Amino acid sequence: MTYEQAVKSRRTFAIISHPDAGKTTLTEKLLLFGGAIREAGTVKGRKNSKHAMSDWMEIEKQRGISVTSSVLEFLYDGYHVNILDTPGHEDFSEDTYRTLTAADSAAMLIDAAKGVEAQTKKLFKVCKMRGIPIFTFMNKLDRQGRDPFELMEELEDLLGIRSYPMGWPIGMGQSFSGVYDRHEKKLELYNPKNPKAIDVIQLTGPDDPKLDEAIGDSALVAQFREELELLDVAGDPFDASLIAKGELTPIFFGSAISSFGVQTFLEHFLKLSPSPTPRESTGGLIDPLNHQSFSGFIFKIQANMNPAHRDRIAFLRITSGKFERGMAVKHVRLGKQLKLAQPTQFLAQSRSIVDEAYAGDIIGLFDPGNLRIGDTLVEGSGFEFDEMPHFSPEHFSAITVKEALKHKSFEKGLQQLTEEGAIQLFKTYNRFTEQQIVGVVGVLQFEVLEYRLKHEYHVDIQLERLSFSFARWVDGPEDELETFKRVQRNLVTDRDGRLVVLFENEFQMRTATDKYPDLQFYENSFYRKK
Ligand code: G4P
Repeated sequence: MTYEQAVKSRRTFAIISHPDAGKTTLTEKLLLFGGAIREAGTVKGRKNSKHAMSDWMEIEKQRGISVTSSVLEFLYDGYHVNILDTPGHEDFSEDTYRTLTAADSAAMLIDAAKGVEAQTKKLFKVCKMRGIPIFTFMNKLDRQGRDPFELMEELEDLLGIRSYPMGWPIGMGQSFSGVYDRHEKKLELYNPKNPKAIDVIQLTGPDDPKLDEAIGDSALVAQFREELELLDVAGDPFDASLIAKGELTPIFFGSAISSFGVQTFLEHFLKLSPSPTPRESTGGLIDPLNHQSFSGFIFKIQANMNPAHRDRIAFLRITSGKFERGMAVKHVRLGKQLKLAQPTQFLAQSRSIVDEAYAGDIIGLFDPGNLRIGDTLVEGSGFEFDEMPHFSPEHFSAITVKEALKHKSFEKGLQQLTEEGAIQLFKTYNRFTEQQIVGVVGVLQFEVLEYRLKHEYHVDIQLERLSFSFARWVDGPEDELETFKRVQRNLVTDRDGRLVVLFENEFQMRTATDKYPDLQFYENSFYRKK
């Protein structure tokens, strides 16, 4: 296989969804199609993930839930597919957002009975910011859900994205009979008694009498034809270029639990989704197809995966070129050479050593502490990829060390955890007594912080929860910024000294944005690069 073929066959994506929409189930089914696992139920302890908090403590002993599923790989029909795990439930954190920066596209999984839910909305925003293509899978059609037109409307109203149904369901819940593929003109029949036995019938179109014969229920068929006609007349047309820009999302309908619609989704997805995309860097756009030397960036760091060793694993997304075990690369920020000797790849429960990998792939690097989130590694002359954004935390606590004598270890631990991206650290701005404030996206991170400082740095801390819910990075004309700095309460600075304002609620936030129309309030720290 040539380098170009290897790159073009890669598909690296993340599944975004709200807890319980069926992400674990869908992932398992996808892996089954790829033959990556033999039995469903092995992706991760589903029950465990629902008790993520107590699990985290267990992680020190067992390390295995989100770790092993950080990236799942499988081969299907000549494609090399990488699925990035986006932790949900209580272990939802900034990591979840950052993982999306390593994806070239996203599959958005929606429970058809619930529609667009809170976590999906948050994750969608990050995908939107990056302009990556988003493919929607409406799940649980075997149960009574919302009207498909209503679901499409919700995508537009709540997420601001137009949609194009690639298929259209016939019935739902009790009456669910199948899905018609508008592109291939195929009818996939759903058999509730034996959902795994999926019959596929090739039709000449929706008016083909074979459809009446297969479904049997004439009222259902009439309703389906009417809806499809409406869709053809009033719906958006298929437009691959809008899909590629993330402005139009193709919708698929199915039932992950019975594998129904999953293969159709996978096949269309593989054809429509991009192979590893070019990335911005200080040296210009790095396109993996014409930049054949190795480059990549760190998007996630996980500490102490192996309890016997105090090492960390840094996850690297290869952006161009080919990785070969033992190769020497340049660590651009530190200006030194690194030998990539012991990289690992993750697949379901097993960890294996990688010998070679290509643009689009994710590898885990054992790291004694040289790497930070956002670091660039390159072969040859140096350039750096765009800074990794920080996202607005949603929970905040003032943090102090209990024993003053432990101050040094405390600072060291905080720095380490900040670099790993587990927490964000802010300092109060213009106050007589400086206070440190920790911000996190998911509350579990407070537990993680307390636990890790105690066990790794032997420091006991005091966390005092603060009532803020939003952080906004502020920028704008100097004079207005000066007034803002004098008058506004709850100002802090981030690790890089950038000005950030904390708000308790949307009302407070709106009041400030209305009062200072010339200032910009950013939801993430990415703005300086724009
Ligand atoms: P998550 O990772 O997104 O949190 O969701 P997960 O796959 O764990 O699925 C959440 C629940 O929804 C599970 O039920 C799962 O069986 C169910 N589910 C997933 N896909 C479908 C579907 O297509 N149709 C229906 N009817 N249910 C679906 P549970 O009772 O919470 O767990 P379990 O006892 O089945 O493991």
